[in-house]
Amino acid sequence: MGKVGFIFDLDGVIVDTAKYHYLAWKKLANELGFEFSKEQNELFKGVSRKRCLEILLDIGKVKATQAQFDTWMVEKNVDYLNYIEDMNASEILPDVPRVLDYLKKENIPIALGSASKNAKPILEKVNLVSYFDSIVDGNSVTKAKPDPEVFLIAANNLGVAASSCVVFEDAVAGIQAANSAKMTSIGIGDSNILNEADYNFKDFTEISDSFLASILNKNYKK
Ligand code: BG6
Ligand code: MG
Repeated sequence: MGKVGFIFDLDGVIVDTAKYHYLAWKKLANELGFEFSKEQNELFKGVSRKRCLEILLDIGKVKATQAQFDTWMVEKNVDYLNYIEDMNASEILPDVPRVLDYLKKENIPIALGSASKNAKPILEKVNLVSYFDSIVDGNSVTKAKPDPEVFLIAANNLGVAASSCVVFEDAVAGIQAANSAKMTSIGIGDSNILNEADYNFKDFTEISDSFLASILNKNYKK
């Protein structure tokens, strides 16, 4: 069996930033004169900022000039950055550090594979940068999830075959990206929504050390 690598999504997997993305998009929607629900926000998980704004404007049936589009992209991000300004390690989701520690102890290479252009400063705020052998984020990719690019770059950086990588994801687009990279996909969240994943867990508290050990001892070729 080849070396195994683990790839973590950030938003909704390591930290619950999905709520701050939601608040920032909702503020913009309200300013533009329409509502934006939590259910609609599901469509935004794992999706690039640009694509999110396109979907938001579709929802509100708002036509934008290029200049308006660019302004709203900036405005959303400024609001989002305000929401996360005071973020600290207390916002790391339960048992994420335990799983990271377990993998480190086993000398398993770990990468971040996130669509966010704010990934690095968030990892710094919550003090987790040192766990990651590679950080691949929205600044490093040309194609957004469900395209597998972000995870393939991460596998390459770790020096691990794609088929030997295991991905933690909370977004449908992310599970699809992992699957099309022929990686093992682990859905974190609602198993009905993430039903394309190879494994499903509500959160990391459900992921036991023995499950991780079993993953490390398997050959992951699909
Ligand atoms: C993903 C989030 O991780 O990053 C999406 O799930 C978000 O909701 C995307 O739109 C891009 O993030 P950012 O920080 O670059 O606007
Ligand atoms: Mg996510």
